[in-house]
Amino acid sequence: MSDLIVAVDGPAGSGKSSVSREAARRLGFAYLDTGAAYRALAWHCLDEGVDVEDAVAVAARVPGFDYAIGMSPDRYFVRVGGEDITPDIREPRVTAVVSAVARVPEVRAGLTELFRRLVAERPEPGVIVEGRDITTVVAPDAAVRVLLTATPEARMARRSAELGAKPTESMTQQLASRDAQDLKVVDFMNAAEGVTTLDSTELDFEQTVQALIDIVRARP
Ligand code: C5P
Repeated sequence: MSDLIVAVDGPAGSGKSSVSREAARRLGFAYLDTGAAYRALAWHCLDEGVDVEDAVAVAARVPGFDYAIGMSPDRYFVRVGGEDITPDIREPRVTAVVSAVARVPEVRAGLTELFRRLVAERPEPGVIVEGRDITTVVAPDAAVRVLLTATPEARMARRSAELGAKPTESMTQQLASRDAQDLKVVDFMNAAEGVTTLDSTELDFEQTVQALIDIVRARP
């Protein structure tokens, strides 16, 4: 397979991270989780005591943001300032503030530039990049562009299975409210022109991974 960029977008709980990572592993591709960078910056702001509602203070953290990510699906890590924070970025306190950090224009511009650089330096045979605005902003010229969707009920069921807990009212509300906040910044619910929609509502994990691989292999 020739050198390829695969862009995958989707809402919270669509399974895009786990599906993209596993598809990348099977294809021998690199894997770039862009949500991890937004989460790492949110973690960094909390760690430094920055008020995440203060857009100017958040923007000031972008230029010196010392971020490193492992792009191998088997050796995935997230570091800030040399510190490994891979599990920390999934903490509820980070999830609760990440949308506020991600809506700051300087944050989006800085991280988009970082993602484009990482994608340009990708190893062969290719990379799967996943997030919210990859098919439209970060890599609109990617050879393969996919929007991974699922109904809110299916996404909630998956998220609670991941956490090993029953879905609660507050979890459902949190998921919906994060999507609502994120949707004010970028549309990841409707496929842009030329983007293939993969609806995973009726598919299990294995079937979804296979469907994504099939789309990659069937590229024009
Ligand atoms: O994908 P994940 O849920 O980990 O993303 C965390 C947050 O990062 C999202 O809720 C969104 O605010 C932000 N994000 C973004 N653009 C991307 C990826 C993530 O704004 N491409």
